[in-house]
Amino acid sequence: MARIVAGIGTSHVPAIGAAIDLGKTQEPYWTRVFDGFEESKTWIANEKPDVCIVVYNDHATAFSVDLIPTFALGCAAEFPPADEGWGPRPVPVVPGHPKLATHIAQSVILDEFDLTICNKMEVDHGLTVPLNLLFGKVDKWPCPIIPLAVNVVQFPPPTGNRCYNLGKAIRKAVESYPEDLKVMIFGTGGLSHQISGPRAGFINSHWDKNFLDGLTSDPVGLTKIRHVEYMREAGAEGIEMVMWLVMRGALNDDVKEVRRFYTVPASNTAVGHIILDNRT
Ligand code: DHB
Ligand code: FE
Repeated sequence: MARIVAGIGTSHVPAIGAAIDLGKTQEPYWTRVFDGFEESKTWIANEKPDVCIVVYNDHATAFSVDLIPTFALGCAAEFPPADEGWGPRPVPVVPGHPKLATHIAQSVILDEFDLTICNKMEVDHGLTVPLNLLFGKVDKWPCPIIPLAVNVVQFPPPTGNRCYNLGKAIRKAVESYPEDLKVMIFGTGGLSHQISGPRAGFINSHWDKNFLDGLTSDPVGLTKIRHVEYMREAGAEGIEMVMWLVMRGALNDDVKEVRRFYTVPASNTAVGHIILDNRT
């Protein structure tokens, strides 16, 4: 049977992708960010997951604003990097896992979570930057990826509680898949940031650190945070943090925090990272 062995949270700031693509990772501004992921890269290379489910948001790239699914699951065999205005990022095409993805779609939809099934989808920095942070700059991604896109772009996004419960349904789906697969789940985006308006550049480290603490030891407490609170305390784009609750919902109540990293800023954003081992 397939098992979710770990959850990984990480920011997905597009400038991190640009730093990699333009060969700037050795600049002091960027070593501060990338050094924080070195141990995690070694950890995941040793762990060798068979599949990663990556919960991320599309930034009006693949879907545009014509069509905004609340939850969209990538069931295709592959996902090309999207053109976000400067041509597609020079990263490998992302391989999918159609068999497990369609199994998850069937299980969670029958559990009354109405996912949109995507049999063709491009992926933006929300997905490719986290892959780079954990797997590095590679010619080929090391395992199949199942993208799960969450709407945090146009109001109303799903609540944190809905995201957490979707995580639980995903766990049930994975554990009913007969093949022995070592699965990891990523929650991406955040932490606090605001990229436009009078508060552009707003960051709240106190809030971010409490969120990371809660993620490990009181996730149910985090599910009570309302949209307006994310907006006020974590900036207009801080709502991306609800996606970390899908990841957390897919794990045990008790998990072991094996890694945490936090630095301010990358571009406009507080970079947060956590690894939660689910085998305790
Ligand atoms: C920034 C961060 C994001 O998460 C994003 O999607 C776009 C921009 C930023 O910090 O500039
Ligand atoms: Fe984003």
